[in-house]
Amino acid sequence: MKLLVTGGAGHLGRDVVKAAATAGHSVRLSSRRARPASTPAAHEWVQLDLGDTSAAAAEALRGAVAGVDAIVHAASDHKRSAVVDVEGSRRLFAAAQQARVAHLLFVSIVGVDKNPLKYYQHKLATERDLAASGLPHSILRATQFHWFVDYLLGRAARTPFILLLPAGFHVQPVDTGEVAARLLAALAEGPHGMLRDFGGPDALTLADATLTWQSIRRVKRSIIPLWLPGRTAAAFRAGSNLTPDGDKGKVRWKDWLRNNARTRSWG
Ligand SMILES: NC(=O)c1ccc[n+]([C@@H]2O[C@H](COP(=O)([O-])OP(=O)(O)OC[C@H]3O[C@@H](n4cnc5c(N)ncnc54)[C@H](OP(=O)(O)O)[C@@H]3O)[C@@H](O)[C@H]2O)c1
Repeated sequence: MKLLVTGGAGHLGRDVVKAAATAGHSVRLSSRRARPASTPAAHEWVQLDLGDTSAAAAEALRGAVAGVDAIVHAASDHKRSAVVDVEGSRRLFAAAQQARVAHLLFVSIVGVDKNPLKYYQHKLATERDLAASGLPHSILRATQFHWFVDYLLGRAARTPFILLLPAGFHVQPVDTGEVAARLLAALAEGPHGMLRDFGGPDALTLADATLTWQSIRRVKRSIIPLWLPGRTAAAFRAGSNLTPDGDKGKVRWKDWLRNNARTRSWG
């Protein structure tokens, strides 16, 4: 099958590209950046900015979707999600429909329907746009990725001596390689609408996840719990980001930390 992976140079996208190539699919990936010299020759690379509304960007979008059987849509920009995730995805869905793409697989987040966080509301709006588009599709909601929790804790630890942590939060970090494997299985199964949630093997208190992180990353700080006000924090405290009954990966937080270098930047 010929596959387009949007955000194919991102954390999840890279693993989807790798898994797709291993499964024998022909891969085209999109990124805003120019093709790096290290890209395997077998992969097609297209430059695409989903937030760009110019005629040239529309042409690039038509070229990106032309001739593909399926799309894994993993591009996202949490800082410009109204423009990139919502409006950019709408343009992608319209182009995919015109090109008669047989399956569009959208990567979403567990709990977007239970949490008023703006980025989550934009992911939910995109899920709904896709469902209403008439495109044959699937939607996979995943819990937070290991790299992302690692990155957030690294940022929190920039404060000297203390680690300010939201009280009552839990995390269920999941491996992007395992999410990619689930996406590849979903491609083989064909369009099925909303799939079962996919999460990491363990729901951990944020405090426990942080203690493990501190011990493996050798970061010494005192943890100070912080009671955050508002509906978003309340949704996290209620466990809206967890999937106790969903499908689960096997890679544990502590093992991922031991086997991966510290995530120092986003993207
Ligand atoms: N991170 C998590 O914990 C988590 C959990 C569940 C679900 N998800 C979802 O999984 C998907 C992938 O997440 P990730 O963690 O792999 O994020 P990521 O590493 O930030 O990858 C997303 C990619 O989107 C691309 N992108 C950003 N703005 C763009 C634009 N204007 N036009 C086109 N491409 C753009 C970027 O690639 P270039 O810089 O190469 O253009 C970026 O690498 C997202 O939809 C996210 O919502 C993430």
